[in-house]
Amino acid sequence: MKLLGYATVGALAPWIASAASASKSGSCCRALAKVDSLAGKVVYPDTELYEDRLDSYWSKSAALEPWCMVLPLTAKDVSSVMKVISKKKCPFGIRSGGHSQFAGSSSVEEGITIDLGYMNATSYDPEEKMASVWPGSMWRDVYATLAPYDVSITGGRADLVGVGGFITGGGYSFYLGAHGFACDNVRNFEVVLADGRIVNANANENSDLWKALKGSSGNLGLVTRFDMDVVESASIWGGSTFYDLSQKDAVFNAYVEFTENMASDEQSQAILHLPYAGEFFLKTILSNGAAVVEPLAFVDYLDIPSLSSTLRSTNISDITLENSGNQPIGIYADWFVGLYKNDIRIIQFVDMKHAEYVAKMEAALGPDAVVETLCQFQPLTESSIRHSELKGGNVLGLEPIVKDGATQMWLFTMQVYNAEDETKVIPLAKQFLDEVDEYADSIGINLNWRYLNYAYKDQDPIAEYGADAINTIKAAAAKYDRKGVFQKLRRSGFKIPA
Ligand SMILES: Cc1cc2nc3c(=O)[nH]c(=O)nc-3n(C[C@H](O)[C@H](O)[C@H](O)COP(=O)(O)OP(=O)(O)OC[C@H]3O[C@@H](n4cnc5c(N)ncnc54)[C@H](O)[C@@H]3O)c2cc1C
Ligand SMILES: *[C@@H]1O[C@H](CO)[C@@H](O)[C@H](O)[C@H]1NC(C)=O
Ligand SMILES: *[C@@H]1O[C@H](CO)[C@@H](O)[C@H](O)[C@H]1NC(C)=O
Repeated sequence: MKLLGYATVGALAPWIASAASASKSGSCCRALAKVDSLAGKVVYPDTELYEDRLDSYWSKSAALEPWCMVLPLTAKDVSSVMKVISKKKCPFGIRSGGHSQFAGSSSVEEGITIDLGYMNATSYDPEEKMASVWPGSMWRDVYATLAPYDVSITGGRADLVGVGGFITGGGYSFYLGAHGFACDNVRNFEVVLADGRIVNANANENSDLWKALKGSSGNLGLVTRFDMDVVESASIWGGSTFYDLSQKDAVFNAYVEFTENMASDEQSQAILHLPYAGEFFLKTILSNGAAVVEPLAFVDYLDIPSLSSTLRSTNISDITLENSGNQPIGIYADWFVGLYKNDIRIIQFVDMKHAEYVAKMEAALGPDAVVETLCQFQPLTESSIRHSELKGGNVLGLEPIVKDGATQMWLFTMQVYNAEDETKVIPLAKQFLDEVDEYADSIGINLNWRYLNYAYKDQDPIAEYGADAINTIKAAAAKYDRKGVFQKLRRSGFKIPA
C-alpha cells in the first residue's frame, strides 16, 4: 500500500481514491472468499498461483494485476461469483483462454478477474454429433478429445487459442466457408447471468439471448458451456508455403482471384501472410476442409514457384499445431483490424506502408530492440456469411457489408519484448491504421466493419455491427441484465455502444 507516500506528498485526491478502492478491494475479495463453495478459489497477489495465471496470458500486455482472481470450477461457482459481484458492485474482468492481446481485454487492475481457465473440459456425444466445450479450454485439447471419433469443429486455426473469447466474438476457423462462424455452430449456450441465474440459450429456449450472444462477446453473461455442432471429418489438406519476395505480384493476384471465386468451393480457404521478423517474408496458408488434395481453387497458386511448402494431407490437430509455431514467451502484443473490398490496391498499399512503418518503429526503438509484425489478409464473402442465417442468425452484422462483393479482412499484429517499447510503437501502429483507412476511403473501398477478435481497444467493433444487430444486443441486455452489470461493472473487453 502506498497510502503513506501519497499522504506525505499531499496529493489528497489520489489518497482518497486509493483508500476507497483499497477498502472495496478488501471487501469484494473477502466476500468471494467467504462463500463456502469458493473456498480456495480466490487467489491473491504474491502467491504462486496468481503469478502462474498472469504468466499464462498469451500477451503480457493483457496480464493486468487484479485485487484478486477467482477461479471457478463449475457453472454453480460462476453463479456464486456473479451474485457477490452484483450485490457488492465489484468491478470485474472476464478471462477464458487469455489470448486477446491489449491491456484491459480480459483482465482488470482495479477489480476482480474472473478466470475461467480451469473450466476446460470437453466431451462428445456421438449420437447427437454434439461437442460440449467449456470456455477455458484451448482448441488443442478440444481437437484431441474429438480425434478418436474422427470429427472436427469450427475452432481456432492455431491450436493454442482459447475457446470462450473465440466463439463469443465470432470465430474464423478452417471451416468458415462451409459452416459459417464458430458462433453459428453453437446449438446451446449455458450462461450465467448477472443475477447468478444459470440459463440455457438455444433455438427453443431464450432464443433471443442465443442469437445476441453470437458475436457480442462478454456483454450479456458468462458462457459456461458451448454445445456445438461438429464437422464430419478431422482430415484436412493444407499447409504453409513461402515464396521469394519477387513473386509478390503473382501471389497477390492469385489471392484476390481466389477470394473473388470463393463461392465455387466452400471448403477451400486461403490466408495471405506478410510477416516481418528482421526481414520481410511472403507466405500463404492454403487449406481444404474436406481434405481434397490440390483443389482446383488453388491452380493459380500451385503454379507459382515457392521456396518451401508444407502442403499435405493431414488432420486438424496437426495443421493447427503448425500454425501455433514457436510462440515466444513474454511478448507484448497488440492487434489491429480493418475490412475492405477485395481490391488488390489495398494489399499493395498495406504492403508498401508496412515497410515504411517497420522502419519507423525500428528507428523509434533503437538498435537493440526487436519488433515483429504481421500483415494478414483473409476473405469474408457472402458465400460464407450465408450460413449464419440458416443457423439462427448472429449479431456480427456482416450481411449488408458483404452483399456487394467479396471483402478482405486485414489484420495487423505487432509484438515487442517490454512495456516501454510497446508505448513507443503503438502510436505508430495507429498511424499505420489511419493511413490505410484514409487510403481505402479515398478509393471508396473502406467497409468500416471490424472483427472483434482482432480489434484494438479503441476500435469499438460492436459500434460497427449496424443498427439491427446493436438493437438485438441491447434488447437482450435490457432483458437478461436489467441492472446493467456487464456494462457498468465489467471493465474488460468491448462494450455495447451507448
Ligand atoms: C495465436 C493466435 C491465433 C488466433 N487465431 C484465430 C483464428 O484462427 N480465428 C479467429 O477468429 N481468431 C483467432 N485469434 C483471436 C482469438 O479469437 C481471440 O484472441 C479470442 O479472444 C481468444 O479467446 P480466449 O478465450 O483466449 O479470450 P480471452 O482473452 O480469455 O477473452 C477475451 C474476451 O472475450 C470475452 N469472453 C471470454 N470468455 C467468455 C465467456 N466464457 N463468456 C462471455 N464472454 C467471454 C470477454 O469479454 C473477454 O474480455 C487468435 C489469437 C491468437 C493469439
Ligand atoms: C485444464 O487446466 C488445468 C490447469 O491449467 C490443467 O492442469 C489441465 O491439464 C487442463 N485440462 C485440460 C483437459 O485441458
Ligand atoms: C494427426 O497427424 C499427425 C501428423 O501426421 C499424426 O502424428 C497424428 O497421429 C494424427 N492424429 C490422429 C488422431 O490421427
